Amino acid sequence: MQVVSISSLKGGVGKTSVTLGLASAALSAGIPTLVIDLDPHADATTGLAVRASDVLDIGHLIKGSRKAELAANVVPSGWLSAHKHDGGPLPVLDVAMGSAFSGIYDRPDLGRRDLRRLATVLARADRDGSAPYQLVLIDCPPSLNGLTRMAWTASSRVLLVAEPGLFSVAGTQRTLRAIELFRTEFAPALTAAGIVANRVRSGSNEHTYRLSEMKTLFGDLLLSPTIPEQANWQQIQGAAHPIHQWPGESAKSASALFDNLLDSVLNQSATRSRLYRG
Ligand SMILES: Nc1ncnc2c1ncn2[C@@H]1O[C@H](COP(=O)(O)OP(=O)(O)O)[C@@H](O)[C@H]1O
Ligand SMILES: [Mg+2]
Repeated sequence: MQVVSISSLKGGVGKTSVTLGLASAALSAGIPTLVIDLDPHADATTGLAVRASDVLDIGHLIKGSRKAELAANVVPSGWLSAHKHDGGPLPVLDVAMGSAFSGIYDRPDLGRRDLRRLATVLARADRDGSAPYQLVLIDCPPSLNGLTRMAWTASSRVLLVAEPGLFSVAGTQRTLRAIELFRTEFAPALTAAGIVANRVRSGSNEHTYRLSEMKTLFGDLLLSPTIPEQANWQQIQGAAHPIHQWPGESAKSASALFDNLLDSVLNQSATRSRLYRG
């Protein structure tokens, strides 16, 4: 089970969009996947077309982490109903539902015991075989407070999302330092899976400049491909649809980008996923 946090300091850079793009790629590749929606805004839950359900949301699940069962409290993504599969078994794409309640843990001073809550839930499910997932994607809130740190404690990799702009580049440097510190103190196995540049406008001089700056600063942590600004993105997300099933050329090329990105997240060698030590 590969557990990947999708994080950034800032909101609106595309964490949820990248999470959904990777989930769509995993679904189309038939990789059994769980999306954990740790952002109290619960956008990933909405985007994955999850219907209201009487299972525990992620906030209550981690609150009862010593007893609560993951398997009994995940729901299948509504994307599955539109998924074309050729008569074989339906792939697995489950969601641990987000809710405002998880916000109680989003404090800057979360203690060690609280930091382990999500890791405890996942480890137990993994041990008793009730979590049939090859990939777990955790959509984080836009801060480095308790919830993001709880996600990192449960993860082996952190995927950072950044826009090619000044503040975002500076924020990414700070986040990489925070990961490094956190790794030393709490999570020795944690590595940066890389940085995804999102909303890249190919005709923009500023973006070209910032991308080359990112390349210099972050080296091969800057992942290829980068994700361009997509005109119909909000429409696809508004329809709560996987990008791989959306008609048209632009959705097709975006799907191919997420296939590549998923590949690089899943198949990184140990040396490739080294941490930035700037
Ligand atoms: N590559 C993109 N092209 C166009 N719009 C995008 C792109 N990535 C994200 N967006 C839009 O930007 C907004 C913020 O993205 P979101 O994924 O919610 O960011 P975050 O989760 O980091 O807050 C959303 O409305 C989303 O549809
Ligand atoms: Mg989000």
